[in-house]
Amino acid sequence: MVTGGAGFIGSNLCEHLLEHDNKVICLDNFSTGRTQNIQHLFGNPNFKLIVGDIRNLADCHKAAAGVDYILHEAALGSVPRSINDPIMSNDVNVSGFLNMLVAARDAKVKKFVYAASSSTYGDSETLPKEEETIGRPLSPYAVTKYINELYADIFYRTYGLNTIGLRYFNVFGRKQDTNGAYAAVIPKFVMKLMQHESPLINGDGSYSRDFTYIDNVIQMNVLAILTENPEAVNTVYNTACGDRTTLKELVNYLKFFLSKYDSKIANVQLVYGPNRIGDIPHSLANIDKAKLLLGYDPQFSVQQGLSEAVKWYWENLK
Ligand SMILES: NC(=O)c1ccc[n+]([C@@H]2O[C@H](COP(=O)([O-])OP(=O)(O)OC[C@H]3O[C@@H](n4cnc5c(N)ncnc54)[C@H](O)[C@@H]3O)[C@@H](O)[C@H]2O)c1
Repeated sequence: MVTGGAGFIGSNLCEHLLEHDNKVICLDNFSTGRTQNIQHLFGNPNFKLIVGDIRNLADCHKAAAGVDYILHEAALGSVPRSINDPIMSNDVNVSGFLNMLVAARDAKVKKFVYAASSSTYGDSETLPKEEETIGRPLSPYAVTKYINELYADIFYRTYGLNTIGLRYFNVFGRKQDTNGAYAAVIPKFVMKLMQHESPLINGDGSYSRDFTYIDNVIQMNVLAILTENPEAVNTVYNTACGDRTTLKELVNYLKFFLSKYDSKIANVQLVYGPNRIGDIPHSLANIDKAKLLLGYDPQFSVQQGLSEAVKWYWENLK
């Protein structure tokens, strides 16, 4: 069962699991998810959509009944959204998460794999980020994601529920939403560039991130489901590429790949603005733990992923 299965990461997971002959239940309330992400799956007899809300325990119980594995992706993403409405972010990301843990426990699922976040590293200046060293959260969103890890650990120790948290680092790729105030940086920049408009860079462009292509994230979810190594369960993993790219480099890669489709994009100028509240200067993951305990072997570098993502946006949104 995939919660948030109509969203960016969740819909890619549903698609991948169905392609590999699994039965998939998708639970989503379509608050940020979209029908178009999953409508091609509606005719598949192995796919079932439950429109419901993780803030409603009955919906969680209904979706989890008879399920072997839960991939919990449903949440309200975005640091700025959580700063604008911390109560809503907490309701979905903390109370909704707790409901899903209770439903997973009651349904006796084999494993509960959940979307954690690199934001949990907060103000820690250590680079690269290693799982055991975190700082203080820098936003309400980061608090919610850290609380998820604490609850997952308690559900293992109290009720014996097997959990794995995947701390995603700036995921990007096909189906990521380009619209709205809370869109992520890569789809936002791609849309601007396709319209020959200047993307706004917060700060001087030197801030860096470990941008992670969706197929690497899918691999981590599958490995987390499949692992039978007792030492690999009931813990968290950096889910990243293990490489960092500055915002300025990122825009230049995007311009390069997009200009293969439209040469005018190479001439679009960049615009710089102030830094955003809650943004850390640099983020880079150490992915050794995932390699060692799960056998993670990311197949897409940032450049390869960007090339794929740009192709998808060009073919689907231009
Ligand atoms: N995209 C990233 O870079 C990134 C980084 C770190 C962590 N994450 C986490 O990964 C997960 C998936 O993120 P995404 O980028 O795919 O976001 P998304 O917004 O595309 O997907 C989230 C999905 O959850 C659904 N949802 C939200 N509230 C719900 C509710 N109350 N009940 C049922 N469904 C609900 C939405 O409709 C949407 O389909 C989230 O938990 C997010 O916090 C994402």
